[in-house]
Amino acid sequence: MSEQKPRKTPEELRSHRWYGVKDLRSFGHRSRTAQMGFGREEYAGKPVIMIINTWSDINPCHTHFKQRVEEVKRGVWQAGGFPVEMPAMTLSEPFQKPTTMLYRNLLAMETEEILRAYPADGCVLMGGCDKTTPALVMGAVSMNLPMIYMPAGPMLRGNWNGVTLGSGSDTWKYWAELRAGKITEEDWQEIEGGIARSPGHCMTMGTASTMTSATEALGLIMPGYSSIPAPDSRHAQMASLTGRRIVEMVWEDLKPSDLLTPASFDNAVTTVLALSGSTNAVVHLIAMARRSGIDLDLKRFDDLARRTPVLANLRPAGKYLMEDFYYAGGLRALLVQLGDLIDGSALTVNGRTLGENIAGAEVFNDDVILSKDKALIASDGLAVLYGNLAPGGAVIKPAAAEPHLLAHTGKAVVFKDYNDMAARVDDPALDVDENSVLVLQSAGPLGAPGMPEWGQLPLPKKLLEKGVRDMVRISDARMSGTSYGACVLHVTPESHVGGPLALVREGDLIELDVAARKLNLLVSEAELAQRRAAWVQPPSKFTRGYGVLYAAHIQQADVGCDFDFLETDHVEPERQADA
Ligand code: FES
Ligand code: MG
Repeated sequence: MSEQKPRKTPEELRSHRWYGVKDLRSFGHRSRTAQMGFGREEYAGKPVIMIINTWSDINPCHTHFKQRVEEVKRGVWQAGGFPVEMPAMTLSEPFQKPTTMLYRNLLAMETEEILRAYPADGCVLMGGCDKTTPALVMGAVSMNLPMIYMPAGPMLRGNWNGVTLGSGSDTWKYWAELRAGKITEEDWQEIEGGIARSPGHCMTMGTASTMTSATEALGLIMPGYSSIPAPDSRHAQMASLTGRRIVEMVWEDLKPSDLLTPASFDNAVTTVLALSGSTNAVVHLIAMARRSGIDLDLKRFDDLARRTPVLANLRPAGKYLMEDFYYAGGLRALLVQLGDLIDGSALTVNGRTLGENIAGAEVFNDDVILSKDKALIASDGLAVLYGNLAPGGAVIKPAAAEPHLLAHTGKAVVFKDYNDMAARVDDPALDVDENSVLVLQSAGPLGAPGMPEWGQLPLPKKLLEKGVRDMVRISDARMSGTSYGACVLHVTPESHVGGPLALVREGDLIELDVAARKLNLLVSEAELAQRRAAWVQPPSKFTRGYGVLYAAHIQQADVGCDFDFLETDHVEPERQADA
């Protein structure tokens, strides 16, 4: 595709309208660029590369971005471009409340508008912490300028007295141990100090590793680079190479619309499945695809899951961490193992096909990256459930659940919202046993709001003390990619808008049958109709600002939780640069 396009001339650059024309406005742009210390020869006729940097003092996953952005700039200069660093809102998974998901679309909008409003010819997107990846990609795809994603890279393995610790997964694990009295408060404090010990995003196969790997498989990251640990010197080299390559991409006019196809999204979904990646990827990849004009739906995930083995032995599904994955050959080696499940003809940012990029990649540790005949899980790493409790679908990661729960009927214990759950779940008087089904309402895109990662409902303390470690849990929330358990997530439509989840009452029987892809509330249609008639929608939680916009336009999880007006049928012609 790219080779058929003529190379751009300097006069055809978008930035030419700011810097190159002879008028009053461009005088202003040039004199103000001079004010910043640049002579004309330093930028005239060069591609302007907007480096969108989500660095922040409160994002621990991006602490190295102050240095990395200098390395990206170095590459841009070397290739004859003009780098412009542009800070953008960070989405810091641990700190931003109520959830970063509430703000994913805001960062996507900011990204798109930065690129639209300023003289960008191409961009490098610097992110990695969970929602930053889909947000930056969604915004840039909507502007459709040449782009490369520069992933933060995973942090190093955690360590506690010689025990390897993984982000998230071990937090949940040792929190449960602490609550069950199996470790001391002192142990818990030592774990706090050792679980996150370098820059970089979570190093388990959580949302961050899942989304950067998926984005590489989509062709939007230079090959092999999503696996490099953040502090590795090769990560710095990757940054400058990314800077060099984006300049060429501008001349080649190689845009997201040249790269993103149904086949490339199938590659991304297959990659997520082979990694046993985060369920969050379902929401994000659907949104990213719809921004690209591709109608990726839930059913496609289920179809691809039926044929895709889990080949990455990474936590939480397996044993190892991203640092081990990199030393074992990284994503390229994993994609080679997938063989014909990957469409090698898909074009990528380096101008080559995915097949060319992964050719010859070797596995150096076959206990970390498995071959198909030794798969961690043969297939069905993810399942999409339908039924009268989830007419629009729900998802579960069967591999993260205790197998006996995958076909289970139990009595509902219903929490009407998060606070209700927090107040009652540990109450010794709660009528619950290991066969109960824990139901959380009002945790969806509008109800919570922001569809937080509350889907791994805590187990009642009295059951934990009895040794119970998993139960069926159902909600319209999401779940952290580092979590585990028999958690049915993303129930659509959500309870806040009157989905059947809102109608569940204490003691109702719920039937989960993962093999049959079923999720049913065993209550008669007549009774449900009565409950529906009596149901009153809770008031909106927003009275001002971004929340009002969010509430008016957010869509449900099955279509990716994007704002309706940001989807591809809302195309606008480019505004005048100097209007
Ligand atoms: Fe940033 Fe997990 S906290 S990726
Ligand atoms: Mg997370």
